[in-house]
Amino acid sequence: MRAFLRPPTGARMSAKRHESLIKTPKQLVTALVLFFVGTIIVIVLLAQLATSGRNYDEDAKSPEAVAKRIKPVAEVNLGAAGPAAPGSTVQVAAKPDGRTVYESTCMACHGTGVANAPKFGDKKAWAMHLMHGTEHVYENALKGKGAMPPKGGNLTLSDAEVKAAVDYMLGAAK
Ligand code: HEC
Repeated sequence: MRAFLRPPTGARMSAKRHESLIKTPKQLVTALVLFFVGTIIVIVLLAQLATSGRNYDEDAKSPEAVAKRIKPVAEVNLGAAGPAAPGSTVQVAAKPDGRTVYESTCMACHGTGVANAPKFGDKKAWAMHLMHGTEHVYENALKGKGAMPPKGGNLTLSDAEVKAAVDYMLGAAK
């Protein structure tokens, strides 16, 4: 028992326990220098790794590229009035806005009932004109009737625009 607990005797044990490569002060200095150089190299490499992914594409900052990235997922194309642009294959015709047409052309007479024009929103007056059916009303709006000039006097309006204006007025007189 005693022999077992006795502390080991010097050199023999220390040689066994600490089999170190560093045996002289010069080796210690070399090891420290290598350690620091190695650490610095690792840091530099990590720094490069961290920043390498951030090589921004200069073009990506252009206003067009930004606009492209943040644009809405869907666009409503109402189509342009006038001839289709060369190269465009699909043109969705814009549904004429009856209200706009009414306000620009028809309101002058139908707003107040000039020359006995059926007044905007006047159910009774419009009911009289609707007796022969909506198609007949369209027809009269396009070709004119009495004091009502063809297309309300604005011949630049398309048939669809006039009809849209009629629909707008009829909708208000329901
Ligand atoms: C210069 C005044 C004037 C303008 C502008 C005018 N109207 Fe009229 N409109 C009349 C008069 C007057 C009548 C009534 C005609 C009648 O029944 O004798 C009338 C009647 C109508 C009727 C009833 C037709 C029917 O079947 O009896 C419609 C529909 C109509 N107008 C649509 C329009 C539309 C659409 C516009 C605009 C694009 C327009 N009008 C612009 C004067 C006008």
